[in-house]
Amino acid sequence: MRAVVLIGFMGAGKSSVGRALGEQLAWTFEDLDERIERRERRKVAQIFRDSGEAEFRRAEHAALKEMLSELRTGTERIVALGGGAFVEEENVRLIEAGGVSTVFLDAGVEELWQRCRQQALRQEIERPLFSSMEGFRELYEARRPHYLKASIRQETGGKTVAEVAGEVIRSLGLNRSRGKQGEKQ
Ligand code: S3P
Repeated sequence: MRAVVLIGFMGAGKSSVGRALGEQLAWTFEDLDERIERRERRKVAQIFRDSGEAEFRRAEHAALKEMLSELRTGTERIVALGGGAFVEEENVRLIEAGGVSTVFLDAGVEELWQRCRQQALRQEIERPLFSSMEGFRELYEARRPHYLKASIRQETGGKTVAEVAGEVIRSLGLNRSRGKQGEKQ
């Protein structure tokens, strides 16, 4: 297996769990939104503001394609996708053709909302699609059936990042890197 792709709604913990997995497995961690920002030379929120969501989706698809093409030769990696990436059919096709495992990080919509709210209050992430609770819930319900197409579903509700990462490693049958074996969590 060359890569594990983390999918799920905003606030699912894709980046924090991805970082923890990268450390535990000694695999490279990549956040696809950061690749988009590097390629486009502007922040995700700025792309939405200046060019609209359709342009963001185009940039997201191009970045995904580039990342998958690098898997053939590069190091093994954990990739966190943005919440809308696995909803686009073309992206799902690309990912499936790449033969990578996909992990859906799941949680109830109330908890996802609270996590995003906390991050917004701390000004950690500016999310263009995080607005009203009603809109958030509608989008979550429309997207959840797409996320369920992932290879595995991992519950995250009420769990720490370390717990979730450990459970993903066990579900995928991956080994912690040698240096980390026996270390306390
Ligand atoms: C989006 C989620 C964001 C980012 C962009 C669009 C979405 O990523 O890709 O704002 O459509 O849900 P996170 O899921 O990491 O917040």
